[in-house]
Amino acid sequence: MPPRRQIRAMFESISGRYDLGNRVLSLGIDRRWRRYVSLQIAKLHPCTVLDLCCGSGDLALSVLPAVPEATRCVGIDLAEGMLSQARSKAEKRGHAHHLAFLAGDIENMPFPDHAFDVAMVGFGIRNVESIPNAIREVIRVLRPGGTFFSLEFSKTNSFPLKYLYPFYLHHVLPRVGGWISGEPGAYRYLAESITAFPDQPSLASAFEAGGLQDVHWTNLSGGIVAVHVGRAPGAALQGR
Ligand SMILES: C[S@@+](CC[C@H](N)C(=O)[O-])C[C@H]1O[C@@H](n2cnc3c(N)ncnc32)[C@H](O)[C@@H]1O
Repeated sequence: MPPRRQIRAMFESISGRYDLGNRVLSLGIDRRWRRYVSLQIAKLHPCTVLDLCCGSGDLALSVLPAVPEATRCVGIDLAEGMLSQARSKAEKRGHAHHLAFLAGDIENMPFPDHAFDVAMVGFGIRNVESIPNAIREVIRVLRPGGTFFSLEFSKTNSFPLKYLYPFYLHHVLPRVGGWISGEPGAYRYLAESITAFPDQPSLASAFEAGGLQDVHWTNLSGGIVAVHVGRAPGAALQGR
């Protein structure tokens, strides 16, 4: 994994075109992936939600309409350019009063212990320097029994995706991503980091080794992405 200053610089460089790249490269399906996570989170009736590696804010902005009006949400990210996209979208959609976006590192968060009912990360855990450090911090800021959601690219074994997807990933995505953003290197990194990332069972094991409990996952789009869910040690989160 490149050091975090390199990761931050890369996301700064694509921040203005990040959303457009996502929509085009996923054919709009990324919205459905975030929507799935939002519906799972809504079932928990959380009062406080933390969006880690929040980027341009799409996951937080997908969750908020699904949860009670009183729910407070905070997003953190390393890249100021991504945060400013997120803030302007929150303002435009009328969510600025219960949603804040702050500069912060998932491996060293600016929050007290047990501050959140739910923590989530969308397409971010693949980019962190140390997954064990990130999970330790997630557990620290979650209240006992709080729930962690990770939405991330994973491995597909579905026919015919397992044959078509590698071609798309290594030949189509870097070219199209490069045209859209003017930064082909960022989209080559995307393809390489997805290929190198642990598969579903290995990521679940890494989360459990970090201290999360009851880790399980759901494949979306044939396993192109997976949603892993785990619980911080302690009493289970009750619906409120
Ligand atoms: C692929 S984007 C995902 C953005 C957003 N969650 C989404 O669903 O589109 C990954 C984000 O993770 C951020 N990031 C990478 N490492 C981080 C870290 N250690 N702490 C906080 N944010 C980080 C990057 O700046 C980038 O905005």
